[in-house]
Amino acid sequence: MALALNGIAAGYVPGVDILRGLSLTAAPGEIVTIIGPNGSGKSTSLKVAAGYLLPHTGTVAIDGEAVQARPIDQRVRKNGIAIVPQSNNVFGALTVAENLDLGGGFLPSAERRRRIEELIEAYPLLGRKRREKAYTLSGGERQILALARALMPSPRYLLLDEPSAGLSPLMLHEVFLAVREIVRKLGIAVLLVEQNAAEALAISDRAYVLVLGQVALEGPAASVLADDQVRQLYLGGAAV
Ligand SMILES: Nc1ncnc2c1ncn2[C@@H]1O[C@H](COP(=O)(O)OP(=O)(O)OP(=O)(O)O)[C@@H](O)[C@H]1O
Ligand SMILES: [Mg+2]
Repeated sequence: MALALNGIAAGYVPGVDILRGLSLTAAPGEIVTIIGPNGSGKSTSLKVAAGYLLPHTGTVAIDGEAVQARPIDQRVRKNGIAIVPQSNNVFGALTVAENLDLGGGFLPSAERRRRIEELIEAYPLLGRKRREKAYTLSGGERQILALARALMPSPRYLLLDEPSAGLSPLMLHEVFLAVREIVRKLGIAVLLVEQNAAEALAISDRAYVLVLGQVALEGPAASVLADDQVRQLYLGGAAV
């Protein structure tokens, strides 16, 4: 049982590979973080996992089944994958409840209503604001909404692209706590891309450092956090 990218080469224009032989895995019950410089291919690797971008080499396997030729909606339905993209992850003109409803697109309507109530119970702030337009939410509230929306179809593999972007340290903490709670309660796998390396690694089990579309370092989150080069590059050399 795992999500596994194996020897992936992929890019946006012919002849220019952004990912160059990338392999990584994420198994249920663990938080796996990907860190790396801007442009190193972090978001691209999530897009390949979710099916937004097809690799020209390598395989994407979910629970042992090769899915690289399977379109996004099929991966959601059949393989339980969900993604919260780096930006534009809620519809501002729609209410909180409508955003959640959209996340359950293919569920029967009774099931969708049930999931909305469950998620509103898990995240009370969404309940308080269920009839408000999403553009009125704070950045942190919006990230919680984006998370909850991705949880609508009860995914087993949740891909999060910089959920803490633009948040205050306090809100960042809240969002990371929510992510950890999700994994603890539901036992799903989270593949997390983050710029806030220290905070992300602190809630993670394992980590990958991506450089130029390749894994430069991988291991338990604590050892990646303790790595001298990682400290220099991402943590300003500070002791943690
Ligand atoms: N839709 C696209 N079309 C063409 N090139 C793209 C596209 N999206 C990303 N790229 C290029 O692919 C490379 C990797 O981008 P990617 O978004 O995966 O990086 P990242 O590691 O997520 O960076 P960041 O930390 O800035 O979010 C970059 O050089 C980028 O310019
Ligand atoms: Mg990115």
